[in-house]
Amino acid sequence: MVVGDFATEVDVLVVGGGPGGYVAAIRAAQMGKKVTLVDKAELGGVCLNRGCIPSKALIHAADEVHNMKNSSHMGIEVDGVKINFTDMIKWKDGVVKKLTGGVSSLLKGNKVEVLQGEVYFSGENKVKIATEKDSQTYQFNHCIIATGSRPTEISGLKYDGKKIISSTEALSLSEIPEKLIVVGGGYIGLELGITYSKLGSEVTVLEGMDSILPGVDPSMVRMVKRNLKKLGVKAVTKAMVQSADTSGDGVTVTAEVKGEEKSYTADKVLVAVGRTPNTDELGLDQAGIEVDEHGFIPVDKQMRTKNDKIFAIGDIAGQPMLAHKASYEGKVAAEAIAGEPSEVDYRAMPYVIFSDPELAYTGMTEAEAKEAGYDVDVSRFSFAANGRALSLDAAEGFFQLVADKETKQILGAQIVGPGASSLISEVVLAIEMGANAEDVALTIHAHPTLPETFMEAAEGIMGHAIHMVNK
Ligand code: NAI
Repeated sequence: MVVGDFATEVDVLVVGGGPGGYVAAIRAAQMGKKVTLVDKAELGGVCLNRGCIPSKALIHAADEVHNMKNSSHMGIEVDGVKINFTDMIKWKDGVVKKLTGGVSSLLKGNKVEVLQGEVYFSGENKVKIATEKDSQTYQFNHCIIATGSRPTEISGLKYDGKKIISSTEALSLSEIPEKLIVVGGGYIGLELGITYSKLGSEVTVLEGMDSILPGVDPSMVRMVKRNLKKLGVKAVTKAMVQSADTSGDGVTVTAEVKGEEKSYTADKVLVAVGRTPNTDELGLDQAGIEVDEHGFIPVDKQMRTKNDKIFAIGDIAGQPMLAHKASYEGKVAAEAIAGEPSEVDYRAMPYVIFSDPELAYTGMTEAEAKEAGYDVDVSRFSFAANGRALSLDAAEGFFQLVADKETKQILGAQIVGPGASSLISEVVLAIEMGANAEDVALTIHAHPTLPETFMEAAEGIMGHAIHMVNK
């Protein structure tokens, strides 16, 4: 108990209980630190409660519906597939609950003290933690900030939670919208746009740049564009959305499309134009920390901020805003606090988009490798030549490998197709281990499986793939 203005002393204070914060807390506890974790809301952060997990649950449910309706060529005819959306959302909530409960037990098992409240820095090694009842001062030896991000708002399309929604509401709707406009053809826009299309919504994606998924290798995006068409999702590019009118029954969005003003009407608009780091309401200046022009906290390779007692990890520490990046940085920060020489190395960061088909990539593309001065070899193996992909009725896409021409060292991979989200891990491991294409080609891969495509692409680099004609 604290009386008056005395500060409670804690050793490591972790602010935020998402995949950055809770992982950092557990790792610090494993390293013998006494850890206190504080979050103003539920444990698990955006990822578990309103992001990665619930979205993947809904994506899976929508895929089940879609496959059921589209399997007559396999001799499966299903009449009248009905969706009980309330039950679907309940099932998704159950998945989330199991995981958040697991986080709580893990923190307990590692003797991490968990507090609920809002944190505000009041000095270089001090915070105030405000609860509904009171506000108390805590003094820390080290602090890890992991406060994550929130959906970015467009000034002309303020979220109202009903007609103009963010991914948060899109994951907990009470009914499937008949017509849905998605603003932003990035990660969230495509994952959720495709999901609602499979659940029966008429979906229009409005993307400001000249392609959906700007920044992703165009050869990978091509396949997603084709499937959007098949699904009946309208993707309008060079469509900069400016405002929305919610006065009528639905909502009308105005966008500048290739220089012309156009309007689109729907029941709901999902705005997914990026995320904003939660660094503006922490009183960081009190702790001597400044943010950059995007609101990110500058850090060194151990995730240490300008204040050497304070570390920042995850979405607030810069792009990419990915849960696994946050967890990785959390472990590095915890180890640094324990005096270990750990440092981040992002060479093999996996990127996964749960679109249709799935996209995943890591390391360098051919263009990036060339720009970095490599003489490169590229090998692309098609899922159409993979027995498992065919037997899964999902033989579309490719596994592309980029390697150094001389040493055959694996530099990167781009995968489009079934199981891309899991397949990428094998490449990440190969890059981490410094493997070359021969190592992979000599690794026995179980048959018939999707990872055989990695072995074949690696054999292609060596000039002796079996199931494609070598260049
Ligand atoms: P994003 O950055 O992926 O995409 C936003 C898109 O909106 C961009 O293509 C941008 O050009 C477009 N845009 C911006 N302003 C616009 C306007 N006024 N009108 C039309 N288009 C406009 O951001 P998103 O999808 O909101 O996701 C945020 C972050 O969350 C991602 O960058 C990613 O880091 C993370 N995420 C990761 C997932 C995964 O790993 N599978 C899934 C979902 C999100």
